[in-house]
This record gives sequence, structure tokens and C-alpha cells, in this order.
Amino acid sequence: PLESAKDVGLWSARHIANRINAFKPTAERPFVLGLPTGSTPLTTYLRLIELYKAGEVSFKHVVTFNMDEYIGLEQSHPQSYHSFMHNNFFSHIDIQPQNINLLDGNASDVEAECQRYEDKIKSYGQIHLFMGGVGIDGHIAFNEPASSLSSRTRIKTLTQDTRIANSRFFDNDINKVPKYALTIGVGTLMDAAEVMILVTGLNKAQALEAAVEGCVNHLWTVSALQLHAKAIIVCDEPSTMEL
Ligand code: GLP
Repeated sequence: PLESAKDVGLWSARHIANRINAFKPTAERPFVLGLPTGSTPLTTYLRLIELYKAGEVSFKHVVTFNMDEYIGLEQSHPQSYHSFMHNNFFSHIDIQPQNINLLDGNASDVEAECQRYEDKIKSYGQIHLFMGGVGIDGHIAFNEPASSLSSRTRIKTLTQDTRIANSRFFDNDINKVPKYALTIGVGTLMDAAEVMILVTGLNKAQALEAAVEGCVNHLWTVSALQLHAKAIIVCDEPSTMEL
């Protein structure tokens, strides 16, 4: 583990920049990066913006896929994951708008939207590096407890625990938190060439224990990564309290 949440942000940003630079992406052969929302990756995004401004990394030939999106929030809603990504990352770097992929939580045909997303990922062959966070209950993206470990992109009903946890972004009012979301599946995540999960804070200690020391099981979907050939957990000291 690293000492602090800030160190987790710095390390993970440097790791992403190193991977992009080593890949030497071009328009014909872009680097494909999977991205999360949440408070955990905020320092990573800030650091990546700094690295971009310092000329140490470019996103010109990087294609991104976000993990999930709420259903029923306007894209312009401040808490939509579209807004989150544009405000905290995309609007500060040289990524090309056509290279940004997010699920459309307002699609009239949800199943077709999920299939479109899976097909688009496949059209690039593979996601080279997928960064993620983890929920207090061990969910990865919005793969809530009891999600199939071979699931693909689909609609999920959010658990009461997740809606309570995320109500901090909705005036602490659970009634304002969407009930459903679109999310990549655990199987979609497992297909990435490399997965990097960020875990910070004492409130994630149980999830980290389940991820590392528990059995692979669908109640803590992050535990599926034990079966991934190239999964890294970047964590801080407080999150390791249960190990
Ligand atoms: C949401 C997201 C997850 C994220 C989790 C933890 O539920 N869908 O992708 O990992 O929150 O968020 P935080 O980093 O704010 O603790």
C-alpha cells in the first residue's frame, strides 16, 4: 500500500501516462482506456491534467470508455457521469471528442444501447487499461452484489446501500438518487488487458479484504479480479486495516 490517498492518485496517474507513452498510440492504433467516476479517482484526474500540461502525456490518440452512467439524469445534470467526466477531466486535456465513449442513460432502447457499447469496445479489439474504484459493498462499476461474474453491459438496479452512499452528491436526499444505472459487466471488465483498481479510506477496508483475501464470489464483485492475469490494486494505508 501507499501512505495516503494522494499518493494513490499520483501513482495511478503516472502508471496511466507510462502505459500510454510506452504504447506510442497513433490515429490508426489508439490507446484504449477505461475510466471510472467517483471521488477516489479525482486526484488521478488532477495529476493526469498536470502531466498533460507539463507535456509528459498526450490524449490525442487515446480512446476512452466510461464504466457506467445513471439512468434518467439529463446529460447536463451536474451529477451525471457525462458532466463529471467533462468537468473533471475531458475539458482539460487534448482528447478528441469523437474518442470519448459514455453510456447513454437516456437511450429509449436500453438493450440496444448496451449492445452498441459492447460492439464499440470490440471494434477496438480490447481495452488496454481499465481503471476503476470500488464501492463500500465491493461493487465494481455498478455491478452490485449478486451480479453475475460473467455479466456484460446492462441495466442494474442500484442497491439501497449504494443510493445512500451516493446521496452525498444529491443534497443528501436519497430520493434524488437515480434507482437504475447502465454499467459495463464484470465480464466486460475482465476482458481488459489490464485492470487497475484504486482503493482509499477506512470505509473501503472490508471491500479490500473481500477483494484480496475473500473467495471469488458474486457478492463482492471486485473479487472476480483475483482471476485476472494483470490486475493491480493501488491502495492507501487506511484501506488495508482489515488485511
Ligand atoms: C459509484 C461508481 C463506482 C465507484 C463507486 C465508489 O458507485 N459507480 O464506479 O467505484 O461509486 O465511489 P467513490 O470513489 O466515490 O467511493
